Amino acid sequence: MAQRETWTSRIGFIFAAVGSAVGLGNIWSFPFQTAANGGAAFLVVYLLAVFLIGFPTMMIEFVIGRRGEQNPVAAFEKIGYGNWSFTGGLGVFSSLVTLSFYSVVGGWVLSYIVGSATGAYFGDPGTYFGSVASGPTAIAAHAVFMAITIGIVASGVTDGIERATKVMIPAILVLLVGMAAWATTLSGASAGYEYYLSPDFGVIADNFASIVPPAMGQAFFTLSLGFSVMIAYSSYLGRDDSLPADGGAIVVVNTLVALLAGFVIFPIFFATGGAEGAGSGGAGTAFVALAGAFGSLPAGQIIGFVFFAVLLFAALSSSISLLEVPVSYVTESYGYSRGTTAVVMGLAIALLGVPATFGTSWLGFYNDLVFNIFLPIAVLLFAVFAGWVANREAVDELGRGSSVGESFTTAWLWWIRIVVPIAVIVTLYLGVESLYTGLTSGAYF
Ligand code: PFF
Repeated sequence: MAQRETWTSRIGFIFAAVGSAVGLGNIWSFPFQTAANGGAAFLVVYLLAVFLIGFPTMMIEFVIGRRGEQNPVAAFEKIGYGNWSFTGGLGVFSSLVTLSFYSVVGGWVLSYIVGSATGAYFGDPGTYFGSVASGPTAIAAHAVFMAITIGIVASGVTDGIERATKVMIPAILVLLVGMAAWATTLSGASAGYEYYLSPDFGVIADNFASIVPPAMGQAFFTLSLGFSVMIAYSSYLGRDDSLPADGGAIVVVNTLVALLAGFVIFPIFFATGGAEGAGSGGAGTAFVALAGAFGSLPAGQIIGFVFFAVLLFAALSSSISLLEVPVSYVTESYGYSRGTTAVVMGLAIALLGVPATFGTSWLGFYNDLVFNIFLPIAVLLFAVFAGWVANREAVDELGRGSSVGESFTTAWLWWIRIVVPIAVIVTLYLGVESLYTGLTSGAYF
């Protein structure tokens, strides 16, 4: 059997994992969710969810991945618990479904890059969205986005994924910092910062039940957890890397990118009419609101172009991780070549995404199905596995190659035994309830 690839360096792994984490979730969903859920109040709950629940959960996937040194399904067998392989399989399945609609939104981003260059969306942002979000343009753009994703994954872990993310992540950071600096000059900047950064704890207390599920869902999604992606990526990691240190760096950079996106978007909103309501009303509102805002700003065309270019890089560095999961599984389990597998799986995923180009209701349904059901179930299973099933020797993988002591691992173990499952069960319950309400009230179809 061919030698398994590994990242060429620790930094290579961090870039790739940050690339997976930084995506549409940070630059598109995060500011809009924040706007829809009370501004700074949401931000506080989201940050708690990222650091208290997200980070420990990322460590679970890293432990399974590096210990297993295999794709997310085989990893469980290698650790000695083959009957838990279905858990990794659930992540593989979620990755497939998510990529199918993530790529449709990636296609929208491509259309908005073109629209910024030509100025096509400036007159009537609502109509432009309607013309690119469904129908032939949406299918064509979705196909182009998938083709780029396939091309990168087919090139391999180091030559494709590592190389692409090493370019895209610094570019995202530099461009976002530049845009955030430009946004300070807007007339709405201080009102925007105020809304974004001054939490009203009364709002949190009054809306706890409605803020927690989206904040938790967003925390998992933004860190790419529950999809077996971090299991796959950490399986290419060397024995002497520190999992907590690498994970900490990934979580911090990912959070910085989301925060920076807020520093760009909130001043823009307040310069052009306010944030409330911008996040409600489904997937498309964000595009329409932003395009409308760019249309009324002095250098709007340039800013729009740069913004959507950043969004494209972010989306691609995530989509490649979503394709890597099924590709690593099929190549390792069935011995097919990486190139062929990437093309065949990519085509199948592209087809699965076609219904999401018919209209945003399918997209919303796919999204909520993954967000509210598959993702929390997978995280719960990972936590139960690592916390209660795997033996201590396997769990001790956390501290290998790192300076954290035995007591750190023990504290983490109890945290993922008790706190993480409780938080996830509450989220799952509320998520199932909202999906059920959506289905029975005809909110999707
Ligand atoms: N973390 C990505 C984002 O925030 O857009 C989305 C994502 C990528 C989720 C990969 C899950 C995943 F496995």
